[in-house]
Amino acid sequence: MGSLDTNPMSFSALPGDKAAFEPLNPEDVRAYLHKAVDFISDYYTNIESMPVLPSVKPGTGRGTGGGVILGTTSEAMLVTLVAARDAALHRSGSVGVSNISCLVVYAANQTHSTFFKACRLAGFDPANIRSIPTGPETNYGLDPSKLLEVMQADANAGLVPTYVCATVGTTSSNAVDPVGAIADVAAMFNAWVHVDAAYAGSACICPEFRHHLDGVERVDSISMSPHKWLLTCLDCTCLYVRDAHRVSDSLETNPEYLKNDTTESGEVTDLKDMQVGVGRRFRGLKLWMVMRTYGTAKLQEHIRSDVAMAKMFEDFVHADERFEVVVPRNFALVCFRIKASGAITEEDADEANRVLMDNLNKTGKAYLAHTVVGDKFVLRFAVGSSLQEERHIRSAWDLIKKTTSSIMA
Ligand SMILES: Cc1ncc(COP(=O)(O)O)c(C=O)c1O
Repeated sequence: MGSLDTNPMSFSALPGDKAAFEPLNPEDVRAYLHKAVDFISDYYTNIESMPVLPSVKPGTGRGTGGGVILGTTSEAMLVTLVAARDAALHRSGSVGVSNISCLVVYAANQTHSTFFKACRLAGFDPANIRSIPTGPETNYGLDPSKLLEVMQADANAGLVPTYVCATVGTTSSNAVDPVGAIADVAAMFNAWVHVDAAYAGSACICPEFRHHLDGVERVDSISMSPHKWLLTCLDCTCLYVRDAHRVSDSLETNPEYLKNDTTESGEVTDLKDMQVGVGRRFRGLKLWMVMRTYGTAKLQEHIRSDVAMAKMFEDFVHADERFEVVVPRNFALVCFRIKASGAITEEDADEANRVLMDNLNKTGKAYLAHTVVGDKFVLRFAVGSSLQEERHIRSAWDLIKKTTSSIMA
């Protein structure tokens, strides 16, 4: 027995040290899968000669103190909401208010729907879930002055502002909520701030995108999902919490049948106390394999080349007067549409875009998703697959132009 070969230099996907992104080639994939099958088969063959338990000690393979890898953003939100809820109940109980119906949570109206679901699961009263309107003046990011106004009104009404979810890279249009300014507002009310960077967190492995997280050192938790944009298979969401005990204090269970010396020693955070379930998959392994296989420079190049391809597509859209880019592009998503102009009304344009999307998707050659931003039906062109190349972007754009000409003829 032994370990799989994890030496990055043995992988032919990494020629020399030039930082050009190249996905694994099919022959490498075949070779790795053969190795994995051999490993599993050898394990079964030799199982009787192996100890029942591993010999690892607390600290082996230690990562950052307050980190845990979960399956989904929803779970990351749920566990932090529960921790924030309990802390707020505890705090306000000491001044005589300890009823969950007093607690309020906040997010921009562009926040992923999963936040609103997680709030309900955590027991917040739906009447106390504030969805704050956003508009083109902030490129659909949360306006901290509006947040302050709403939180202050709630506090004045005797409610307890408890949790704010800021998103870096919203699903619809990749809007960025200003993390630092939101943290400052939340601090005035002692509210927990969570940053949902499910998609765009991956971009922040590149220094040039990290400013989107400015102020993150003042938040309570942040989650990002390598399954979105960091070449890792579903599901894999990393959650970092400033103080892991704030989560484990809420979620800890200690039945007799789970007692063990390692947990009792206090040297480890038992990961069952950082999640909803007890059992866990080893999701960290696949992320670790991705990081070892590609290395930082190649992963950065993957992000940069996707962004460059999205920019190329955005330039194509700008250059064609039939179209408009609806919100400025931040990462590798372009929100665009056939625009209303001349005889084409906004309603006509919505319908034309819907037909364009349907006709294009029916070809089976490209796939466009849609959203509604500022009451407009908007098409979303996302670059993100490891196999995407410039030629695919060019041919998709040609197809979009051709399909548009046919429906506008
Ligand atoms: C910004 C953001 N947050 C949350 C989610 C939901 O993620 P999950 O399915 O991991 O709960 C998504 C999914 O698209 C997302 O884009």
